[in-house]
Amino acid sequence: MSEKRLSGEVFYPSEDVISKAHVKNWEKLNKEASENYEKFWEERADELHWFKKWDEVIDDSDKPFYKWYKNAKTNIVYNCLDAHNQTHRRNKLALIWEGENGEFKTMSYFALHRETCKFANVLKSLGVKKGDRVTIYMGRVPEIVMAMLACARIGAIHSVVYGGFSVESLHERIEDSQSKVLIVADGAYQRGKIVPLKAIADEALQRAATVEHVLVVKRTGEPVNMETGRDLWYHELMNLPIASQKCEVEVMDSEDPLFILYTSGTTGKPKAILHTHGGYMVGTYTSLKYVFDIHEEDRYWCAADPGWITGHSYIVYGPLLNGTTSFMYEGAPNFPYPNRWWSMIERYGINLFYTAPTAIRGLMRWGNAWVNRHDLSSLRILGSVGEPINPEAWKWYNDVVGGGKCPIMDTWWQTETGMFMITPMPSVPLKPGSGTKPFPGIEMDILDEEGTPVGPNEEGYLVIKTPWPSMIRTIYNDPDRYVEQYWSKYDGVYLTGDSARRDEDGYFWIIGRVDDVIKVSGYRLGTAEIESALVSHPAVAEAAAIGLPHDVKGNAIHTHVILRVGVVPSDELKEDLRKHIAHEVGPIAKPEKIEFVDSLPKTRSGKIMRRVLKAKALGLDPGNLSTLED
Ligand code: WTA
Repeated sequence: MSEKRLSGEVFYPSEDVISKAHVKNWEKLNKEASENYEKFWEERADELHWFKKWDEVIDDSDKPFYKWYKNAKTNIVYNCLDAHNQTHRRNKLALIWEGENGEFKTMSYFALHRETCKFANVLKSLGVKKGDRVTIYMGRVPEIVMAMLACARIGAIHSVVYGGFSVESLHERIEDSQSKVLIVADGAYQRGKIVPLKAIADEALQRAATVEHVLVVKRTGEPVNMETGRDLWYHELMNLPIASQKCEVEVMDSEDPLFILYTSGTTGKPKAILHTHGGYMVGTYTSLKYVFDIHEEDRYWCAADPGWITGHSYIVYGPLLNGTTSFMYEGAPNFPYPNRWWSMIERYGINLFYTAPTAIRGLMRWGNAWVNRHDLSSLRILGSVGEPINPEAWKWYNDVVGGGKCPIMDTWWQTETGMFMITPMPSVPLKPGSGTKPFPGIEMDILDEEGTPVGPNEEGYLVIKTPWPSMIRTIYNDPDRYVEQYWSKYDGVYLTGDSARRDEDGYFWIIGRVDDVIKVSGYRLGTAEIESALVSHPAVAEAAAIGLPHDVKGNAIHTHVILRVGVVPSDELKEDLRKHIAHEVGPIAKPEKIEFVDSLPKTRSGKIMRRVLKAKALGLDPGNLSTLED
């Protein structure tokens, strides 16, 4: 810990937490790692199994297409499952799962390995080979974890689509990835209702032609349409002799693709962020171990959804690489009552708990009594991700949930970074609302328009200056866009798309996105997705979407809509547009407000100036209007 007195409100970790922590001296580790980050990442990689080690840790001969652990051979699934099976962890629980309807399931490392191998053989029998893309569209059930691992085991590239997305979002992602197999659940339980995933998928498949087979996992048992020759029941195939529990792991090059995950970018349609077997493995393994301080006896719960990067890195890969016991819950936090989460923390004895500020604010609204009914003393470390956490929510999380003894890991990162980038560790003094400093070996900065670092407490563009193992490798099928979007504003520096400031102690404070990405309840949505859904409605001529501050969601979507000539504006039409967006993009994209307007502020080249709409809505000065057309 630093001897220097820190400014502002500071929470110092307890001796209890520090004495247990893997990293007791953060400053020292930061210093060593920054002096030689190659060595730091080489030593971390050495903790994992490789079929063949690397010739070089980083190959930067073709920047910004960095390569990590050059020519090394591995498979992330080998380290997630097979490696543990050769140790005392064979019978340890890998997964504890509770359904929203109260169902319960556990799987040991041995069982997860067995089921994954069987699943992988089923995929092989459908013709899935190394390099093929497989789309996965399910709720939070153990089969989603097995589906991802089964793909990776045989070298197929998984593309998980969040179960809260709907027809057009799914279609677009299947089409762009050219997936030939879709793994889908019949439905998912959510707040006592059933989301008809298979029916949504059927509609999406009418728009996409590449899928040859649909593998259907029975979760709800509700009747679904099964198309002969195309659709197959997972449980039936898993009972056939082809689903043997022996499945050799595919030996992958360190740089072979592991998965693609679509995320919203500055403009246009969502882009497929590509991660690889080697570097992603080292990044997620190390970051989870150090930040959540994983120990053998811990029970860990990341309450995110596997359909987003947080779920990929910290529900599936990170926890399994660390051989920890992970808990997964299917449903809504307040179902049937607002104590559901707290009751599960108590019943399963969760030690490490990771969620998002929006969930904390939502649960905070129900009052302390719901939390206080439960004994949460098993908790040791808490985490937050997805958007800045406001000090009020931070304190409630700290005092009421953590009982004042659990440090809060406010982790800043992105789909593109694969792992935590700005984050404390348990032994670090915390300031509510700041993610503290970059992870060891990672150099970050805040720059002005010209690329000069800004002074203390000045706002600027948040950038990353050193490569890191789990960095995005490219945008699948669109390498030019990868270069253009992340590496073109400044030379040799990765642009995050966020603005931030750094205080006099070097602590980073995230302000928010500077592009057309809106973070709604921690979910990342693009204005373009919402606008194109609106414009696909027959009544709409033009539309603009912006994010405005919201007490619980962080940001809420507000839209301005120009109707086609002759269409009469009405409240019914607004409701119809809301439903249309939910049907095309997903319920998370439903606008808070729809306003019918006659014109939109545009640049002379026809680009909608969303910042003008935002400033107007917030009663702020719209800034420089010299490019405004009218
Ligand atoms: C935002 C989620 C403040 C940020 C892991 C980033 C955060 C975007 C934090 C990436 C945090 C994430 N504090 N802002 N702790 N974590 N963000 O790709 O704007 O869904 O650029 O990854 O979320 O969102 P993504």
